[in-house]
Amino acid sequence: MSAPSSTIATLHSVAELRAQVRRWRAAGERVALVPTMGALHVGHVALMEAARKQAERIIVSIFVNPTQFAPTEDLSRYPRTLAADLEKASGAGVDAAFVPDVAEMYPDGFATTISLTGPALGLETDFRPTHFAGVATVVAKLLLQAAPDVALFGEKDYQQLQVVTRMARDLDIPVAILGVPTVREADGLALSSRNVYLSPEDRAAAPALHRALAKAAADIRDGRDVDASVEEARQSVVAAGFALDYLEARHAATLAPLAARSEGPIRLLIAARIGTTRLIDNLAV
Ligand code: PAF
Repeated sequence: MSAPSSTIATLHSVAELRAQVRRWRAAGERVALVPTMGALHVGHVALMEAARKQAERIIVSIFVNPTQFAPTEDLSRYPRTLAADLEKASGAGVDAAFVPDVAEMYPDGFATTISLTGPALGLETDFRPTHFAGVATVVAKLLLQAAPDVALFGEKDYQQLQVVTRMARDLDIPVAILGVPTVREADGLALSSRNVYLSPEDRAAAPALHRALAKAAADIRDGRDVDASVEEARQSVVAAGFALDYLEARHAATLAPLAARSEGPIRLLIAARIGTTRLIDNLAV
């Protein structure tokens, strides 16, 4: 790993993080946290820009959290680009990067995991049963370590956003959780650190996900039957070469399955695999 040339403060321990936040608070400054696993892209920069509107000080955390990866998943090949990440964060006006190692976050004897129901049920959990317990546990730790006024998460991981919002509320963590709209390529593909895994052919097919969601959302808004619209979207994604994990219409706030169209705002959520890459996306109806 080459030494970063940026001037951003890089904090490795919880003690350093807390001392830094204490100094800002003593000066009467509000603090925003943008939790990330690094491999920062324009979608993360949008989170940092949104954070700037919320607080005088911004911390970005960069930690590839092992507990949210199943043994079969891509932890070892997850992109790690710390020097470039620090440059991007610095360019986006971030004040400090919290970059703990695994031993700092999960010291010997670590034995606590947050158990979830509600918005964590179904969807991703059907395919990645331990994922959100890992996410919620590390996010709770980051919120307690940094004690920010506000923490920002991308709507791209919509189920994660709902899980984290519910968790912070249920555990009385005094923070506002804000969702930031998904940033997309011109052809509709949602920005993701995992897009780098797409072969040129798979990249060409990838916008089919957003196209399918956009068509189903428009059809439902026009009064078409939800199940029929969702089924047509599933078929179009499979026809584009994807293996579908799920494409579902859920209640937007709770992610409960829809019992009736009249229940309120709907969110369409999809996960699908192409080549060796698994993509997720979602859209409001
Ligand atoms: O969305 C992510 O990058 C991660 O799930 C998060 C929230 C940083 C927790 O590791």
